[in-house]
Amino acid sequence: MIRIRKPDDFHIHLRQGPNLPAYLADAAGSFARALIMPNTLPPVNNPARLREYQQEISRAGEDLPDFQPLYTFKISGDITGEELEEMFRRGVTAGKYYPLGATTNAEDGVADHRNIFPVLDEMQNRDLVLCIHGEKPDSFVLDREKDFLPVLRDIRSNFPRLRIVLEHISTEAGIQAVQELGDRTAGTLTVHHLMRNLDHLLGGMLNPHLFCKPVLKTPGDQKALVDAAFSGSHRFFLGTDSAPHKRGDKECDCGCAGTYTAPVAIPALFQFFLEQGAIDKENTRLFQDFTSAHGADFYGLEKNRGELILENAPWKVPAEYHGVVPFLANSELQWRVL
Ligand code: NCD
Ligand code: DOR
Ligand code: ZN
Ligand code: ZN
Repeated sequence: MIRIRKPDDFHIHLRQGPNLPAYLADAAGSFARALIMPNTLPPVNNPARLREYQQEISRAGEDLPDFQPLYTFKISGDITGEELEEMFRRGVTAGKYYPLGATTNAEDGVADHRNIFPVLDEMQNRDLVLCIHGEKPDSFVLDREKDFLPVLRDIRSNFPRLRIVLEHISTEAGIQAVQELGDRTAGTLTVHHLMRNLDHLLGGMLNPHLFCKPVLKTPGDQKALVDAAFSGSHRFFLGTDSAPHKRGDKECDCGCAGTYTAPVAIPALFQFFLEQGAIDKENTRLFQDFTSAHGADFYGLEKNRGELILENAPWKVPAEYHGVVPFLANSELQWRVL
């Protein structure tokens, strides 16, 4: 058995409605806190919606007192200073910038990043974190992240004090940009982008459950992400982008983007760090920093006091959780969360 500081997930989708309690419980099995994305239907993009979503999650989490949700709102040019102030008072942690049409439920995204400069200015003044889905939607799919980076640099140079997170980095170019942009810029890495590349998605038989945005990239890109995670840099940390879609919405003519990693993220990633030689059983520091320290530090939160116990007991990942096919479905993992 190995004890680690309880992890945080700085990027998760819990959706809304009848499935939310199950998704929340899966996350709470491994994480003390999770930053909950606002691309629900309807979106979390004003104080009334934030309040409603906070109430929905509080109700769903009544039996999970050890779990703390962290909230985000979807940024639009329409948000007023008063609305931002009210969301700030309601304890919101970050604002999320989705480029128009970039991903699931981003049809109401931002057409031009300069349209949201007034909101970013208010966020900078209140020290709210800016989270970015960093893809240029009209570029060729494999170039979307790289082609977005000039926008990231423009925001960085216009708002020098704003804390910015480039979410779910998928390319070497994305890693380099974060490294170059100084200590107020960080990046989240997902379990599936660390452990998989384009070959796993479509090099052999098609695996729609690995289809996500940004799409998995080349082995060279994957290596750059792994190197960043293993480097111990404080500016890279776990944000799983666990994104449940029902099996039928993935296995169809027009499959949704998203990989459901919440139930397996920590055991799978722990095994990956061990197998890659980044840690050993006697010294798991690098893993714990990535899952349980760097993110909290960047967000200005206290590190969790609780711990998670991982037991060296092989188990088979179920074929489904609540109608959703998880990452690594039907495969064997060596460690389980006790
Ligand atoms: C059940 C399921 O999958 O239908 N949960 C589970 O197997 N973990 C019930 C549910 O939560 O939907
Ligand atoms: O694969 C993804 N799924 N990427 C995202 O950015 C959104 C997410 C979702 O909400 O399904
Ligand atoms: Zn995203
Ligand atoms: Zn996401």
